[in-house]
Amino acid sequence: MNRGSIDWSDVDDEALFRLVAASENLASVETVMNQLTVDHNWTEVVLELVRNGKLETRCFIRWLAETLKPETYLEIGVRRGFSMSMVASAVQDVQIYGFDMWLKGYAGSENPGPDYVRSELAGIGYTGSPVFLSGNSHQTLPAFFSDPSSGWLRRRRMDRLAPGRPELLDLMLVDGDHSLLGAYQDLMDTLPHLSVGGVLVFDDITPDPSYVDSVETKNEAGDDPHGWMDLLGVWRHAIVQFPSYRSIEYATNTPGVALAVRLA
Ligand SMILES: C[S@@+](CC[C@H](N)C(=O)[O-])C[C@H]1O[C@@H](n2cnc3c(N)ncnc32)[C@H](O)[C@@H]1O
Repeated sequence: MNRGSIDWSDVDDEALFRLVAASENLASVETVMNQLTVDHNWTEVVLELVRNGKLETRCFIRWLAETLKPETYLEIGVRRGFSMSMVASAVQDVQIYGFDMWLKGYAGSENPGPDYVRSELAGIGYTGSPVFLSGNSHQTLPAFFSDPSSGWLRRRRMDRLAPGRPELLDLMLVDGDHSLLGAYQDLMDTLPHLSVGGVLVFDDITPDPSYVDSVETKNEAGDDPHGWMDLLGVWRHAIVQFPSYRSIEYATNTPGVALAVRLA
């Protein structure tokens, strides 16, 4: 359960964006980014966006963690722990579940794995014991949520790695598989497991216009049998299936962020 709360009926989308863009929140994001080991490809990219008041995932995650004070946080696609560190810096004992298959050289940088992220978290004062579930999220997530389709062996392994894991999570970030079908699957595996009052964040809904037609973008998107086009299409197709959730889309600048708030 979240230890803090937001009265969502009081906050329209624009008001939320103003709260996230407040100088205090952006300063916190910058402070945490500066405490982490420099990623020569991405640290400066994030800092540049933040310094220019262009909101991106880290800004939303940090504000949500500070405001909601979640007891539990689940992230698909941890990489070097940028977003995870935002949560851990706001709530130093939050129970973390991180899913990643640690793809080598992801986005042009080293992707060293759980021990590296553990040490980054310790460096910003995290006091808890993060649980990392390594492997393809399309196999590890169903096992985590004890879906019978995941197979007995996988569920047993999960019981060993993550005993006492919750069925509902207070704050989640879906930022792993960026193919259209893969991202949709991750959303469908996680959205039902959001606690009431909790928030799920989905990254990259606003494609960079200069890359839209590039071979890299098309390769990453993979097959599009349903005509979703991009991750915004994926998001809208997924969230409409959850009528008790409010959807918020921040698309003012790339990479763009969507939020699902569970109201009931
Ligand atoms: C965009 S990065 C995550 C960035 C991270 N959220 C942050 O705040 O810096 C995506 C990560 O997802 C992982 N990934 C991609 N496909 C995956 C899959 N099917 N299962 C698990 N992890 C996956 C990659 O290894 C990579 O580390």
